[in-house]
Amino acid sequence: MTLREKIEQEIRERGPMPFSRYMEMCLYDPELGYYSRHAEQFGKAGDFYTSSDVHAVFGRLLARQFDEMWRALGSPERIELLELGPGRGLFARDVLDWSENKFPEFFQALHYRLAENSPALRERLQTTLKQAFAAGKASMAEVGPCSGPCILFANEFFDALPVEVVSSKGGLRIVARDGRFEEAWAPASAEELEFVDRYSVHPEDGERVEVPLVAQQYMSQLAANLQRGFLIVIDYGYTRQEQLAGRHRGTVMAYRQHSASANPYQAPGEQDITAHVNFTALAAAAQQNGMQVQPLLTQSQFLMGIGEQNQFADAFEECRLPQERAKVALQLKHLVTPAGMGESFHVLVASKGADQAGTAGLSGLSFGKGRV
Ligand SMILES: C[S@@+](CC[C@H](N)C(=O)[O-])C[C@H]1O[C@@H](n2cnc3c(N)ncnc32)[C@H](O)[C@@H]1O
Repeated sequence: MTLREKIEQEIRERGPMPFSRYMEMCLYDPELGYYSRHAEQFGKAGDFYTSSDVHAVFGRLLARQFDEMWRALGSPERIELLELGPGRGLFARDVLDWSENKFPEFFQALHYRLAENSPALRERLQTTLKQAFAAGKASMAEVGPCSGPCILFANEFFDALPVEVVSSKGGLRIVARDGRFEEAWAPASAEELEFVDRYSVHPEDGERVEVPLVAQQYMSQLAANLQRGFLIVIDYGYTRQEQLAGRHRGTVMAYRQHSASANPYQAPGEQDITAHVNFTALAAAAQQNGMQVQPLLTQSQFLMGIGEQNQFADAFEECRLPQERAKVALQLKHLVTPAGMGESFHVLVASKGADQAGTAGLSGLSFGKGRV
């Protein structure tokens, strides 16, 4: 049975399908979902690039930041780093390598946990991180509580969680007609309307907004379960303020072979489906569960803050020839500048039980501080 047939069958049995269920089946159906089927989504031959596909410097700069966070927690004997949706594990590999190399004390305390629910990607992680698994430095985990001091890290995780879609006609449902999926509308639920009231805007005729209830649940539970530690969420997204200014209304996109489309109903299971992250809502969920939230940063500000102290030496370490430096400079530029991922990606940093001065002094939060 194809995924399309499977979805059609569920619609026949249960009636019009909420958009979040459609997205969930397309991405995470255990056999046929986009992320479950194989591990070839990333990089040049895949459908999209993430920051870790661009250059190891992304993981290296974050390793630097994790080391500072560990210190702001009083350098505990053991710290867990729980990565949500690690994909192929390139980021984890870069962080582990660089920490071992540059931050040996932090590395000694570090235990890396990987919460990845795609069977194909879990298998890939075993290969990418073979040594770390063998050495007991890394292990598989669920998106769940840490057992002590902990850093939660998520890059492009929240944008891959199923969302509801709401318009002035109500909540989006998918129906099947003559072998095609079509859109229909049902009254929005009380929970959806409450979310829109608090964290989003009421869509005008012809507009849509997303209601990321699954993301809110994840964030609330993660923050509530965290005893002591930090959280870093990196993703493309927006604030309520920006929505009020008329932007980011309807951000569901599909990606296939590096081209974007606004039609998520083509080729179910063969294309990625994402929605931009509502950072106002995520930050509120963290705060309501005892976390201290820092002002939202752009990826550009965050990485500049970490890297500028040593002129991004982490990027250029292996470069011997001027051509190599030039290539790395371009990759760095892509990660940091507005034309690349620097402005569309945002960084949410939050903490619980960490030293105030240590947190305020984190290099990732320092960009622009102390300047005129
Ligand atoms: C867009 S990819 C990002 C991968 C990686 N963080 C990167 O930046 O390259 C999203 C990842 O989240 C994983 N994922 C989605 N929902 C998950 C869940 N509930 N638990 C664990 N992993 C999940 C997907 O399987 C996928 O590997």
